[in-house]
This record gives sequence, structure tokens and C-alpha cells, in this order.
Amino acid sequence: MNDTAVGPRRLLIRDLAQIATPAGREAPLRGAALGQVDVREDAYVLCSGGRVESVGRMRDLGSLDGDVEELDGRGLAAVPGLVDCHTHACFAGDRVEEFSLRAGGASYEELHAAGGGILSTVRATREAGEDGLRDAVRRHRGWMLRSGTTTFEAKSGYGLDRETELASLRAIRAERGIPTFLGAHAVPPDHADADAYVDFLIDEVLPEAAGIAEAADVFLERGAFDVVQGRRYLEAARTHGLALRLHADQFTEAGGIELAVELGARSVDHLEATGDDGVAVVARSDVTAVLLPASALFLSRAMPPARALVDAGAAVALATDFNPGSAFCESLPIVCSLACTQLGLSPAEALSACTVNAAHVLGRAEAKGRIAPAHDADLVLVDAPDWRHLAYHLGGDVIAAIVQGGQVAWRR
Ligand code: NIG
Ligand code: FE
Repeated sequence: MNDTAVGPRRLLIRDLAQIATPAGREAPLRGAALGQVDVREDAYVLCSGGRVESVGRMRDLGSLDGDVEELDGRGLAAVPGLVDCHTHACFAGDRVEEFSLRAGGASYEELHAAGGGILSTVRATREAGEDGLRDAVRRHRGWMLRSGTTTFEAKSGYGLDRETELASLRAIRAERGIPTFLGAHAVPPDHADADAYVDFLIDEVLPEAAGIAEAADVFLERGAFDVVQGRRYLEAARTHGLALRLHADQFTEAGGIELAVELGARSVDHLEATGDDGVAVVARSDVTAVLLPASALFLSRAMPPARALVDAGAAVALATDFNPGSAFCESLPIVCSLACTQLGLSPAEALSACTVNAAHVLGRAEAKGRIAPAHDADLVLVDAPDWRHLAYHLGGDVIAAIVQGGQVAWRR
């Protein structure tokens, strides 16, 4: 997936029924601004050199000189290329057996405590080798692209040894994902306890991981890492120049929000178990709440308090959490549907949350997440004259074409 967009020639997407893009120039969007989407009808987007050159009404399009490829937008609506700011796309194998056990009543936490869950994917991922991991990320990236994701983050965290963690980060970068070091995902059996494993991560893995990754992440939860261990790991990561992120309040409120605010983290992700006090703390901070409704759905858990967060003024993003255990779902359009049906967000709030606000979490809101001049020319053409079909058509075949870096990356 392109990070630095370069298109060889100009592309004109003409006669679009609508262009919908988050309003304004700010990021992240909060409160009422989250739901403000500019909609232009009967419009065009002109792309050149991988970027948006101009956007406007068809009647204002002058004649264009030179070599211009055209894409017919009649009956279609353009939205910004979607940005998935939280995935675990670097894994081998699957967990379909565990899925069946959960369908029969076993809980995700029980399976994890019994050495299944994350650790079973760790075994498969260690065996895959770097080429195998790269193949896996390429395959998953293709699934994401087909769902409209033109920019994705992916975490390591299924290696949990030096070699496989570093190979995972390299595989993600090689496939043009934005890598996050999640060495602190689970405690592997090769270490005495979580403290010893955090020592190992800081001393043996982080110095090299920091040269590949852009951020570090930790799973703060009963049975994984506590606040003291999380602080030690994240402070070390910050020393190496990484942005900080946390998995917090997925099952229990374990102090992750307070730690995120204390350390000035980019994001705090999950929040399914967050109560009113946690909502207020996030809302007063510069930390973005990344909500993952596909994960709550997949594990049959309560949804995160999205409406309360937005109404309290928190910066909110949406992501898939794509992974083999808790969210085998790569589709941001489905996440948008869940946001509207389960989280109480409007289609406009959902769109801003998985475009400009997600780009902010990845430090890319200057270039990604809006259809605007000088932004990267990444677009989704929705197969309907009203852009809201993106969220409305639950699990539907709603994408007509995808433009990435000013070039048609996929079309039906
Ligand atoms: O974000 N909760 C921790 N990590 C992932 C799940 C990983 C897995 O089950 O493989 C998550 O949900
Ligand atoms: Fe996750």
C-alpha cells in the first residue's frame, strides 16, 4: 500500500454523483466537528503525481491539456481512501478451531489462559519464516485493499522472540504497511514471567525494532501486562523515538487510560470495559480513542462507549483490529455499519473516524484521510449515488473502484 504516493500521469475521475470528505483542515476532529462532512454533487477529482490536484463541480472543470486518463464516476460517490490504524495483519495460520470452540461456549480469556489464543498464533508465526510472513501480509493487505483500505497499520506481536518480532516488522514495512512494535502482546513460555520478558524486550529487541517501527504498543490486561510493566516498556520505547499506543480496557479497567494520558500516547485502543470516569479522562486529553466494534462483536462483548466519548469531546477513531483471534474482519465498511447500528454514531462521524482521525493516529493527517488538494490521491468509489451506502449496506458489495496514489488500484 502506498505511503509516498507517486502516479505517473494525470487521472480525472469525472461525473461523480457525490464527493464526500471530512470538513475543515484540522485533525483530530472532535465533538460536533466529527460529524461534519462536506458533500459536493456532480463533481470531479483530478489527480496528478500521486496527489489530488483539484476537486470541484463538473461545470467548473476547464479543458485539460496533455495525457489524461479518465474514470467514469456516473452513479458513484467518492470518499477518501480508508485508513485502518489498528490491525494485527502479520500472522500465520488461523484460529478456526478456536472459533468453533467459542461458538460452543468456551471464552476467549479461558482459551488464552490455557495456552491457546494468541500463543497458538505465535507458534504458527514463528514457523512461517520471513518470506512466509511477507506472503501473509501481502495476502491480508489485498483483502484490506479490496475493502477500501488504502493505508494500513499492522503490529508485530505474534513472534515474541527477537528474530520473529523483527522479521514481522520488516515484512509489514516491505508490504507498505505502517509497522507498530507490539512485543508486549503476551508473555511467551520462554521467559520466567512478565517482568523478565519486558527486560528482554527493552534490552534485546527494542533498539533494533525502533529502527523499523513507528510506534510501540502494549496489551495492558489481566493475564498480559500491568501498568508498571507497561510504563517501563513504553518509556523505553519513547526514549527510542517511537510514538506510543496501548490496548486498554478490553476486558477490565486496568489503568491503561491514565497511563496513556500520563505518557502522552497517540492512542488508547479498545475501551469496551471503560466506565464514565475513563470517558471523562480520555475526553480531556490529546489521546485518541481507537474503537474496534468488530472485535466486540466477534467476541460477543459489550460495545465501547462511543457516543459518550464523542459527546464528551474525545477524539475518536475507528479500526478493524483485524487478527485471527478476536476480529477476523478486514472490512472498514462493516466497521462503519457497526458504528452506526451499535455505537450510536452517524455515517458522517463513522467516515471521519476511519479517515482523518485514523490518519492522525498514524501521524499522517496532513496527507491522508481527506479528498483535498495536495493530499495523497487515495479514494474509494462507492457503488451508489449517496456515499452513506458505505455504512448502510451491511457487508455489501459496495465498492466500485479504488484509487491509490492517483492510480486505479482495483475496479470491479
Ligand atoms: O486486539 N487483545 C489483544 N490482542 C488482539 C487479539 C489478538 C489475538 O487474539 O490473536 C486484540 O484483540
Ligand atoms: Fe488489537
